[in-house]
Amino acid sequence: MATDVSGAARGRRFPDGFLWGVATAAYQVEGAAREGGRGLSIWDTFSHTPGKVRHGDTGDIACDAYHRLGSDLELLSDLGVRAYRFSVAWPRIQPAGRGPVNTEGLDHYRRLVDGLTDRGIEPVVTLYHWDLPQPLEDAGGWPRRETAERFAEYAGILAQALGDSVTRWITINEPWVVAQLGYRLGTHAPGRADPGAAAAATHHLLLGHGLAVSALRAGLPADRQVGITLNLTVVRPASDAAKAAAEKFEAEQNRLFLDPVIGGAYPAGLVRDLLVPAPELVRDGDLATISAPIDFLGVNYYAPATVGLRGEDEELRRGEERIDGHPGVVSITPTDRAARTAMGWQIDAGGLHELLVLLHVRAPRLPLYITENGMAAEDYVDPEGSVDDDERIEYLRDHLDAAARAIEGGVDLRGYFCWSFLDNFEWAEGYQKRFGLVFVDFGTQRRIPKASAAFYSRVIRANALPAPAG
Ligand code: FCB
Repeated sequence: MATDVSGAARGRRFPDGFLWGVATAAYQVEGAAREGGRGLSIWDTFSHTPGKVRHGDTGDIACDAYHRLGSDLELLSDLGVRAYRFSVAWPRIQPAGRGPVNTEGLDHYRRLVDGLTDRGIEPVVTLYHWDLPQPLEDAGGWPRRETAERFAEYAGILAQALGDSVTRWITINEPWVVAQLGYRLGTHAPGRADPGAAAAATHHLLLGHGLAVSALRAGLPADRQVGITLNLTVVRPASDAAKAAAEKFEAEQNRLFLDPVIGGAYPAGLVRDLLVPAPELVRDGDLATISAPIDFLGVNYYAPATVGLRGEDEELRRGEERIDGHPGVVSITPTDRAARTAMGWQIDAGGLHELLVLLHVRAPRLPLYITENGMAAEDYVDPEGSVDDDERIEYLRDHLDAAARAIEGGVDLRGYFCWSFLDNFEWAEGYQKRFGLVFVDFGTQRRIPKASAAFYSRVIRANALPAPAG
């Protein structure tokens, strides 16, 4: 047990070797959309479609990270992170989503991986963070089974190209978001609003994950770690009457993805009205493929969900929002601004602790990594030239405290990746929502580490949270 040398209230220590990192995704930071032989992705098409992204923002330039490799690597090194989670843009590797490999694309990621390794930073690669090659969407996208097979082919290419230097691999980031926002609601690329397509996309994303696991295992040295990242949350009923609705919501949010990956079955008994893939989509052997053993589960946590009931024609109260596909059910967020981030998401570190404990119960032997956690705030550069994002420091402190408590309680949590390294293109919200530890002035691409960056560096160096002041 850690002892407190100072004698003051002790800060929380993390286990030796805890993997401290920051995360980004290709389309959100790279820019250079028409360079290096890159093909188009569904996010290029979507962001260039009027009315889809706030302010008409696109990822054409983003943080220009493609051209700023050297200086961004120095920044990562200054932060002191032990790991960097980034995603590979599939259309840089296979511009058509199939067939010939674009070596210029591979070279870019080789330079990134080598630059990280040279600085003692571990590269953690996500294969799919939402930028499907447009030709694959034109051929049917994730609702089509073939897309899963193409994804496995692409995974195999990367295993060959980067397998020597990359230890940890994540197949897919947040399949829930892809299926729900991309295919059911249409608020993300490719912008389709079709529940049938969303259910099919769910199955094929999971199948793609399973097929990619075997492609990676086949191409990688045996000691490599392979996992998936899910956006998971705790779901709380607002009243006793809302319990069943909350359970159903939790099944759609968490179990629809967790159960097949860790247990080889879609949630039973809740199939009606849920977006569970229709039986004709699921072929013999698919669930065995999907549940192929993984080495870790990546968890993205931002906020808990509180679920309440409201008569369908009853007015919504402040802080309530209808949940698509769940008639009469609302999600409730506090109306107090201080209790929410700039995204409107509830701030609740207790939810992270609860979630980690829940996952430990559901999958006791599966090591966990928090692959994303962080907040959007209304950051600005003050006249002294600094960005004093105190609310982000508080958010991080509380969530890291929750993570440390979970570890002390026996949860096998191995690492934490803050979302995000840089302010970046926040999907349908464009550049207005800032999540970075490092401020980006998008007009000049100047990077200014925020106060939270200094805080996070101190935590990493100490491998502990500072003791609370006072
Ligand atoms: C997650 C995404 C990530 C980022 C954060 C805020 O859902 O994986 O790219 O946009 O939300």
